[in-house]
Amino acid sequence: MKIENQNPLQWQFSDRANKMQPSFIREILKITQQPEVISFAGGLPSPATFPVDTMKAAFDHVLSTTGKVALQYGPTDGYMPLREWIADSLSTNGAKIVPEQVLMTSGSQQALDLLGKVLIDEGSKVLVETPSYLGALQAFSVYGPNMVSVETDEHGLVPQSLDKVAEGARLLYALPNFQNPTGRSLSVERRQQLVETCARLGVPLIEDDPYGALSYKGEPMPKMVAMNPDGVIYMGSFSKVLTPGIRLGYVVAPLPLVRRLELAKQAADLHTAQLTQMVVHHVVKDGFLDRHIPEIRTLYGNQCQVMLDAMEQHFPKEVQWTKPEGGMFIWVTLPKHMNAMELLDEALKQKVAFVPGAPFYANDPATNTLRLSFVTVPPERIRTGIEILAKLIAAKI
Ligand SMILES: Cc1ncc(COP(=O)(O)O)c(C=O)c1O
Repeated sequence: MKIENQNPLQWQFSDRANKMQPSFIREILKITQQPEVISFAGGLPSPATFPVDTMKAAFDHVLSTTGKVALQYGPTDGYMPLREWIADSLSTNGAKIVPEQVLMTSGSQQALDLLGKVLIDEGSKVLVETPSYLGALQAFSVYGPNMVSVETDEHGLVPQSLDKVAEGARLLYALPNFQNPTGRSLSVERRQQLVETCARLGVPLIEDDPYGALSYKGEPMPKMVAMNPDGVIYMGSFSKVLTPGIRLGYVVAPLPLVRRLELAKQAADLHTAQLTQMVVHHVVKDGFLDRHIPEIRTLYGNQCQVMLDAMEQHFPKEVQWTKPEGGMFIWVTLPKHMNAMELLDEALKQKVAFVPGAPFYANDPATNTLRLSFVTVPPERIRTGIEILAKLIAAKI
């Protein structure tokens, strides 16, 4: 049927929709997907680590043994055996996490959105690190918070600085392990101080931890949720240890909060796919990750070292950078007068890409910073890309 005399629609978007910002990284990725570009821009894990055969066998097993359950609707809070496995793996150092505290989500990105929905009102004070994960800033900003940046130094978030800014805050969003974007980690002492300070000030502490297992030396740091399960909200993900394509993450929270998050999730998508949860449970239950994660650590650790060595050799002495002991990112600080956005324009002309640091700041962006990821680029191309960047930087000093 063709409708005649139709007026073109005048869309009136909600105030909320009008506040939505495109993710700068997703925009850059569109450019950098051309194969000739050496891209240090992505935050994607290396596809070389995806256990395709293991996943294939697990899908086959689940579909052939419990296919009718796997293909049915499932409970909003998630597949119980997987929630039990997660609760067990987080019950360390004497802490007891129960499966009822675990809500399965469609990637941990969904947990950020649900937390925003449940904890943030227009104008609520929300504390974030300086800089912080861009995807969290994007998820929270939809709910109109007053985002306050908490002081960080070369060792990450400074717990003592919280007293000045925390009054009335709805939450503190922290990334203690190999932070995205800086690659920094918090010391055990700072973790304890942070947990204690948040408990004293009555501020819920979100511990976002997709990279914790990717310590190159294989020594995971203690989790803040185990230090105070009543005050810490933990977020985990299978994206960086298994595969991001299955979109499976989780949030672990005190019971009153997890119930609210469950209601928010019900409205958002009813539940996360039962099939993928059952497959992932089948894969992880007998210790697959204990064998698989060391392979990821070795690959990333080696490529990180290649990049650090190349930077040491070629970057001008005025440039500083972090030396991560795990995860996927190195953070670079250029001399103050330099602008990473302008550098990106020139680098793209020479087919090298990275992410300028400014979008990772909730306030007062440091425009002389940038993020490099080394995980998807082979060593030879890492060296070539760093040499090109070094020349471009040197020409501006
Ligand atoms: C710090 C951090 N949190 C959360 C996410 C979201 O991950 P996913 O939704 O794949 O679990 C990412 C993705 O890169 C991240 O870096």
